Amino acid sequence: SSSPTNAYNEPHRPQFHFTPREAWMNDPNGMFYLDGEYHLSYQFYPDSTVWGPMHWGHAVSTDLVRWKHLPVALAPDSLGYIFSGSAVVDHKNTSGFGNGSEPPVVAVYTYHNPILEAAGGDDFQYQGIAYSLDKGRTWTKYAGNPVLANDTGVRDFRDPKVFWHGESEKWIMVLAVYDRVRLYASSNLKEWEYLSEFGIEGDTRLWECPDLFRLRVPGTREAKWVLLVSIQQEGPSGGTGTSYFVGDFDGTVFTADPAGQKWLDHGADNYAFVTWDNAPTGWGSRLGIGWMSNWQYAQQVPTVAWRSAMTVPRMLSLAEDSGELVLSALPVPAVTGLRGAEVQLPMELRDSIRVEGDFSPTQCDISLLVDLENTTASSFGLVLKNAGGDRLTVTFDRSEETVTVDRTASGPQGFSDAFFKGPHKATVDLSQESLDIRVLLDAASIEIFADRGILNFTDIFFPESPFDELSIWAEGGTLVLFDGTVYPMDSIW
Ligand code: FRU
Repeated sequence: SSSPTNAYNEPHRPQFHFTPREAWMNDPNGMFYLDGEYHLSYQFYPDSTVWGPMHWGHAVSTDLVRWKHLPVALAPDSLGYIFSGSAVVDHKNTSGFGNGSEPPVVAVYTYHNPILEAAGGDDFQYQGIAYSLDKGRTWTKYAGNPVLANDTGVRDFRDPKVFWHGESEKWIMVLAVYDRVRLYASSNLKEWEYLSEFGIEGDTRLWECPDLFRLRVPGTREAKWVLLVSIQQEGPSGGTGTSYFVGDFDGTVFTADPAGQKWLDHGADNYAFVTWDNAPTGWGSRLGIGWMSNWQYAQQVPTVAWRSAMTVPRMLSLAEDSGELVLSALPVPAVTGLRGAEVQLPMELRDSIRVEGDFSPTQCDISLLVDLENTTASSFGLVLKNAGGDRLTVTFDRSEETVTVDRTASGPQGFSDAFFKGPHKATVDLSQESLDIRVLLDAASIEIFADRGILNFTDIFFPESPFDELSIWAEGGTLVLFDGTVYPMDSIW
């Protein structure tokens, strides 16, 4: 429940999503698990609510739901700002940073040097490392930085994600280099050897924040590799978005399956999604988190003390969809631990019913299992309203087989044109017997997970006053449910 000693009650402040106490935040960084703790660092500018000289802010959690803020992990130095990157637990002390008791945790990040940038060169982004011998509490930058200079002639050279590759007994780094990724290998995290690159012929969009990991193919002992890449332009709902490729990695080269690039999330607000190193999930699933905003308007959204939140942590796995392997992402199970006393919905509904309960409709978890065979409604969904006339509408359209989130009237306009530019839409298979829909609402965000997590849809919104009315609606017939439950959610702060 909410603590009276902090300021987590400001307008639009999420109650069960990670936000910095104050100031600007973007990408999640340096996520690792060690001794019962999940670490989350993030792009942070402590002196303002807009982007500036980047630091790594830092927090820990034992359950991925409740977070404790820690001091800034990495601050700018003479080599530059600290841009995005990752962290690994170096169990074998390959780096030599270890002292014999704790495994070193090694952060691998991009230095962005504003002085070299202003001088007009093309080598102002390069990679550095830092290590911690006390479970991430304090960090020491390596005296031999940088560990990977930029000799490519390409200015964008950043966001290293590193993992241990058992077969080749090497660390592999995947790095965004303008419109593609490059792979490097190292035996000690200090010296890096170029392996290969991967891109799409003719694609000149800017790529950022890559990740590469293995996942088991469901029902088999086979594994496939997934390459996540965030894309700076032409995201699925405009602006920035996270994409992925399913394919293979042989220790040197990543090859994508013919299905090619897909979006991880179809809403506007899930960027820079990356995963935790060393988390105890096995190969079946992988834990990750995204930045719940979009560079089109992130610096203008109407919050005062802080800017932006993370998505709920999500569990990734592979799933089969019409004969193709795709990613499924669902909220981590611990999220259900925040649920309060449930409100049961009627199993059949027409028109619209208001969800009644002694809780805020924008601090809740909605779980629906729709009986599509017996549903005669041509469209159904939910709507949030306040007394001032702001509204947010979610529509599942049966003939179009789409889901639409319309935030065009969700609050005072003016801070950004792009934010209010038309509804956001994605396709969803509505010809099945049933459809599972999970919706998380938290002050300023909606996260929709449908069809076993294959459809992810994340959007943020800023009503003038909190939405105080939530209704489930059906049009042109009856919506039939196998299950419909709404749970109020606890605050984590
Ligand atoms: C992605 C990004 C990264 C970069 C960081 C800077 O949102 O542009 O490529 O490292 O943000 O804050």
